[in-house]
Formats: sequence, C-alpha cells, structure tokens
Amino acid sequence: MRKKIVAGNWKMNLMNQEALLLFNTISSKLDKDSIANVMVFPPSLFVHQLANSENSEITIGVQNFYPKDKGAFTGEISVSQVKDSGATSVLIGHSERRAYFNETHQFLKEKVDSAIDYELEVIFCCGEPLEIRENNSEMSYVKKQLEASLFHLDGDTIKKCVIAYEPVWAIGTGKTATIAQAEEMHAAIRFWLTEKYNSEIAESISILYGGSCNASNANELFSCPNVDGGLIGGAALDAEAFLQITNSF
Ligand code: 13P
Repeated sequence: MRKKIVAGNWKMNLMNQEALLLFNTISSKLDKDSIANVMVFPPSLFVHQLANSENSEITIGVQNFYPKDKGAFTGEISVSQVKDSGATSVLIGHSERRAYFNETHQFLKEKVDSAIDYELEVIFCCGEPLEIRENNSEMSYVKKQLEASLFHLDGDTIKKCVIAYEPVWAIGTGKTATIAQAEEMHAAIRFWLTEKYNSEIAESISILYGGSCNASNANELFSCPNVDGGLIGGAALDAEAFLQITNSF
C-alpha cells in the first residue's frame, strides 16, 4: 500500500514558543493507531530544535533551501545545512515560491537534484493558477511542471519522492477542489508516471492534495483512490484540526 501522509506547511507563521507548543501538542496527541505518516514544515529558524526533539514520531522538513553546499549567498540556507539540522524532507515547487520568488522550472530541477544528492525526501508541489483552469489547460500545465523539474529522475529515485497537487486557486481561499477535480488530476499524474516510468513505480508514489483541506473535508478528499493524503496550510496551525486530519483515512 502507498504511504498515507498528512503534512503541515506552517508557511511564515508562529513565534518560537507557539511553534514549540503546537509541535508538542501534536506529538503528544497523535493517535498511535493512525495510518498517517505525519510531517511538519516549520519556518527554518525552528527546524533544528524540532527535528532534534525526543520521542516524536513527526518527520520534520524545510519549506525552502538553496541548492548549493555553501558560499556567498547572503540570507540563504544551504542544502547541507538542511541535512545537518536533522530535517529529512524538503518542499520544492510550492506555488508561493514559484509566484513570489520567481523560482523557474530549471531552478526547481536544480533543487530536486540537490535534495536527492543529500538524501532528503522531496515533496514536489505542482498546481495550476485560476486562469489556467478557466482556460481548461490545467492538465498540460501541471504535466509540464512535472516534466520540466521532476521527470528527469530515474525510476529508483523518483520512487522516493512524493508529489503534492495544490491548485493555486484553492490555496488559502477556502475554495477546495471538488472530489472529482482532485481525483481527475491525481489520476492523470499517476497516468503520466506510468507513461514515463512504469505502473509499479506509478502505483508506489504518494500523491497529496493541498488547498483549503481541513478537518471537515479531509475525509472525503482522502477517500479518492488516487489521493494519498494532504499538504495542509491554514488548518495545520490548529492542533485539533490537524490531528483530526491525520485520522481522516
Ligand atoms: P491552505 O491549506 O491554507 O489552503 O494551504 C495549502 C498549502 O499551500 C499547503 O502547502
């Protein structure tokens, strides 16, 4: 069975004490019988502390990093520093980084390769803006995102990655994709993986949905055959809501 995953992307929220409290609350109340692999992506300043906290089942990742070992890149955090912090996963290709920080297909490909070199798990995000959906071009748009920055990996390597489909029009808007829209895109992503690699590889890769996923709609979304969990923004900042989502399979 594919890994079921619930990942919280905290984005640029929370002060240090709030982050600690949220993390400790989630850690201590996680249902031991839940089948979800639980991950959180805190702001980088909190990562080292959370990644090294004892007796937590939660996987810690970073929201961003720079794909170089070290050097004169003021303000950036290197891939090697991410590894050293104890984080084990990275988000790559989030629409906020594509849109506000001009991260291109080529740059995202470099980030993917750099994370793989350091044996960090890649959660690769894709998803179309509203105008693309209104033009009915979301399939070719998302396929291009995957082909340009992820599908150069060989089969053994891509198997270790996770894909997150996050339609931009659903992020932070309260407007969730319908079950049909989510399942259609997730099934298409799996089909492209089958075309490019093979069905064994395609069937083994977890594909998460993100975009206004919350405690009320997670169950329905996660019941789609090709939706293997969620990448959660706003609702991940509320311990009770996030815990409920981890039990929504
Ligand atoms: P929301 O859940 O706040 O819509 O954010 C989704 C997201 O961008 C997760 O990466």
